[in-house]
Amino acid sequence: MNRLIIKGGNRIGGEIKLQGAKNSILPIMSATVLAKGETILKNCPELSDVYAAGRILTHLGCRVRKEKDGVLSISNNGLDKCSIPDKLMCEMRSSIIFLGAVLGECGECSLCFPGGCQLGPRPLDIHLSALRKMGVNVVEEHGCIKCRTPHGIKGSNIMLPFPSVGATENIILAAVRASGDTEIRNAAREPEIHDLLSYLRACGAKIECAGESTIHISGVSSLHGCEHSIMPDRIAAATYMAASAVTDGALRLTNTGGLDADSFSVFFEQMGCSVYHDQESIYIKSGKKLKAIKSLKTMPYPGFPTDMQAIMMAVLSRAEGTSVFEENIFESRYKHVDALNKMGADIKVYGKIAVVEGVNRLYGADVRATDLRGGASMVLAALSAEGTTTISDINHIDRGYEKIDVILSSAGAEIERKS
Ligand code: UD1
Repeated sequence: MNRLIIKGGNRIGGEIKLQGAKNSILPIMSATVLAKGETILKNCPELSDVYAAGRILTHLGCRVRKEKDGVLSISNNGLDKCSIPDKLMCEMRSSIIFLGAVLGECGECSLCFPGGCQLGPRPLDIHLSALRKMGVNVVEEHGCIKCRTPHGIKGSNIMLPFPSVGATENIILAAVRASGDTEIRNAAREPEIHDLLSYLRACGAKIECAGESTIHISGVSSLHGCEHSIMPDRIAAATYMAASAVTDGALRLTNTGGLDADSFSVFFEQMGCSVYHDQESIYIKSGKKLKAIKSLKTMPYPGFPTDMQAIMMAVLSRAEGTSVFEENIFESRYKHVDALNKMGADIKVYGKIAVVEGVNRLYGADVRATDLRGGASMVLAALSAEGTTTISDINHIDRGYEKIDVILSSAGAEIERKS
């Protein structure tokens, strides 16, 4: 099992080229199932989840080729299969997004409930009830989902009870090749959803956004491959900015074009950091002494993202004063707290609330990554800690961060990967 060994105390600074977004490339890779011919994806991050999506595509009958410089070429000359084996489904949560795409292409799909980070219950009722409304016959048995469309997928008006990211993506993928029009109201508004829509439009889909959370899709009979550049990863951006903030560094992130930097810079500014951004880069300079943030409540976009909760918690554990978190998206997303406390943080959890009293010092310890962003929070704590931290189970971290050890080391960290 791989481990990261980090000797804390070095400033994180200089320049980091930001990776492409995990939460964008995975649904777009699923969408290639619907697009005949070749898709060329640029700015692809090298992540274990991307390899897992590639294995699913290969199993379905597509050809996936990794070119140099973050380019992935996917050829779809028709699918051989319309089911995904449990082993492939269990590798990551995003495998569920293949459901809408395979259904749209084949008119049927069977798969089991997906794997991914254990953040509490992650039901699929919103996905499945929307698909039923679109004329899909859904049978759930023994952890498997079997979907058929006896008369094809039909466009429908769908009002989501909650703006679920995954459900919005599945409905979009089922709708682009459906007969008739689909309207999704209270759709998720995350920027990665818009990247998926851009890709699909370039493939020939007819999609319009009305207001901020309504998506209108007119089904078309076929889609073709295209060339698309994956948007930059805002969560990885926040993670590297956090690394600089918590180590009193000054860092420039490049390859950030198209990111809504204000949506997450604001949290660093509240801590007393200075942040400047232009079309292509974001610059952060840490404040002399970080300040607590009174209240951080995770919400669907454009609110404070659940994916940044653990990351900001690691930084705020070193800030002056008391910060209060409220996790509103997932039931069990404080699993990193025990590790941070083991390193000297003072965090108390009361149900969905976590109260963080800033401390002057953190100390190196042996900890275990609990999930992707929880693991990243341990890396951040380790960078600012006295002494050496060993983080095991870093397969969680590798799901979402491209070569995190190489990147942080180029920015000044003393970090080593050992197997
Ligand atoms: C969520 C995050 C996304 C993040 C990802 C990985 C939100 C809104 N979504 O996306 O930003 O990148 O986790 O950490 O912050 N739910 C149901 N029934 C469903 C689907 C979802 O009850 O059918 C509930 C979930 O249990 C959860 C919430 O809705 O409480 C958010 O779900 P959803 O947005 O679908 O999750 P992800 O797509 O995994």
